[in-house]
Amino acid sequence: MNRAPLRILDCGTAARPSNSFMNQTYINQLSSHVGEEVTLKGWLYNLRSSGKLLFPQLRDGTGIVQCVVFKKSVAPEVWDALKNLGQESALIIRGTVRADERAPGGFEIDVVNAEVVHEAHDYPITPKEHGTEFLMDHRHLWLRSRRQHAILKVRHTVVRAVRDFLDNDGFTLADTPIFTPAACEGTTTLFEVDYFEEQKAYLSQSGQLYNEATAAALGKTYCFGPTFRAEKSKTRRHLTEFWMVEPEMAYATLDDVMDLSERFLSYIATRVLEERKEELKALERDVTKLEAIVPPFPRLHYDEAVRMLQEAHERGEMETRFEWGGDFGAPDETYLSNKFDKPLMVHHYPAAVKAFYMARDPERNELALGVDVLAPEGYGEVIGGGERATSLDFLREQIKEHELPEEAFDWYLDLRRYGSVPHAGFGMGIERCTAWMCGIEHVRETIPFPRMLYRLKP
Ligand code: 4AD
Ligand code: MG
Repeated sequence: MNRAPLRILDCGTAARPSNSFMNQTYINQLSSHVGEEVTLKGWLYNLRSSGKLLFPQLRDGTGIVQCVVFKKSVAPEVWDALKNLGQESALIIRGTVRADERAPGGFEIDVVNAEVVHEAHDYPITPKEHGTEFLMDHRHLWLRSRRQHAILKVRHTVVRAVRDFLDNDGFTLADTPIFTPAACEGTTTLFEVDYFEEQKAYLSQSGQLYNEATAAALGKTYCFGPTFRAEKSKTRRHLTEFWMVEPEMAYATLDDVMDLSERFLSYIATRVLEERKEELKALERDVTKLEAIVPPFPRLHYDEAVRMLQEAHERGEMETRFEWGGDFGAPDETYLSNKFDKPLMVHHYPAAVKAFYMARDPERNELALGVDVLAPEGYGEVIGGGERATSLDFLREQIKEHELPEEAFDWYLDLRRYGSVPHAGFGMGIERCTAWMCGIEHVRETIPFPRMLYRLKP
């Protein structure tokens, strides 16, 4: 049994752990160490005491485990150091793993020794309720809580699933720039930055235009990175910086995009269900909602969606009458998607509400060959995409009409000069997808450090 003396700490300094504690077992590996003595390294999540017993809960990033300290099983200085330890003190614990069905996680640790690496006091986030603003101000610490931990684990799985799906489906990752010379998704949400010699650059709103170039080189490509939108709206779905994955396919159409979206989203849901059972449980997610995400998804023409919204208004279910030609607001999306238990694909939007690069319906020029995938349960649009215009003259006209600077797009127009083919793709916001998978209200909790209209710190 290891009875190495406990370190005495200088206040504010982390003690370098002694060699006797070199080997580390992680809390999510305890099931293969039942009956063994292990070393756990982590932070104090919570501490209860009752007479000659202490119950420190230790978290180590992989999980939380309850430890049991008998006063007579440890050296007196270990007992003294532990008994007044504050929440989030850094701690190394040595003890025997015991399977216990009643314990959360199924295991407890009978402590034989402990080493305090750093003593913390007055941790600002206590188990009591805190307001959102307070928690957002303490985001750097809030991340340590059980719920935030679960959400970030789900995000991690979403990202891995995204990459695995595309990599296994023949897509090549081709990263696109963040500094760009012009708008891709409309000029109202552009972040402008000073570039050299009095030039202006804009933070990327989408890698799509560059994807169109890489897809012509590599066939099927994707970019995956930070994306910026100067969104002046304070909604639960908008960040000013978010992560978008954008696949693009040469020789593909709107239908191909819908087929891909369907396979893509159901693959992500399956992976989350398989790999994040514990986290979904911690988040109290109704997993039947995720199990329902299987192809085929309903496909709805914009005309039809408008008809449904107008009928809802006539029945008094929607306050205002939706007029053909408009873009859907959050209440419209929620109404429509609530009619289905699977993601809903709305296609053929009016070209007037979509971006300049969208291909037109050959039978109805006022419609764009675009699709939005609306997630169920009110999560709204998670995917936006479609088929791209292929004609040089048409795109030139569109660039003019959208008041975009043609000189910034000359390279893009080359793609229509040299081997222009039908091609299509989409973009999915990782945060919206993660919020939906987790069943949580706001996207701000799905990224470690959210950037929003009124938040740039921490
Ligand atoms: O519909 P959007 O604007 O589409 C594009 O940018 C296309 N160029 C993508 C493409 O075809 N390659 O954005 C795509 C997705 C949305 O469906 C949403 O999931 C997410 O990006 N998104 C946001 N997520 C968080 N905060 C914001 N402000 C977002 N804006 C878009
Ligand atoms: Mg969109």
